[in-house]
Amino acid sequence: MASYMTWTDAFSIGVVQFDEEHKQLIELVNELHDSICAGTTGETLKRIYDALVAHTVAHFDHEEEYFDAMHYPRAGQHKAMHEHLKRALIAFHEKIGRKDSARVAEEMLRFLGDSLGHHIHGEDKKYGAFLNQHGIA
Ligand SMILES: [Fe+2]
Ligand SMILES: [Fe+2]
Repeated sequence: MASYMTWTDAFSIGVVQFDEEHKQLIELVNELHDSICAGTTGETLKRIYDALVAHTVAHFDHEEEYFDAMHYPRAGQHKAMHEHLKRALIAFHEKIGRKDSARVAEEMLRFLGDSLGHHIHGEDKKYGAFLNQHGIA
């Protein structure tokens, strides 16, 4: 089955640890996509989705640890974006398992793919450049 998202060098933010974490998240988005295509619904889909949310939250925490440790000037804006994304992800959890779950799953996948890609290419690349300037790659 074709991947929903593919990590390429264009996604690189220049910091190995976070590139690896982003690759894992993209892998999990692809697993979610495959499960949806295979017709997975209800509690099983919720479990897969929850694993993805848990990884995303852990990843955001890792990034934020660096912001705090390095006194990153855009920490406030970046953390607010993480909060916004987390709230959106949790809202989807409550919708999975309702009657129109196929539509919700599709909507959720599109949201995840778009927002993750957009976040990595935008805000994450900014702190990647900042970390590079401070000797972290
Ligand atoms: Fe990130
Ligand atoms: Fe981020």
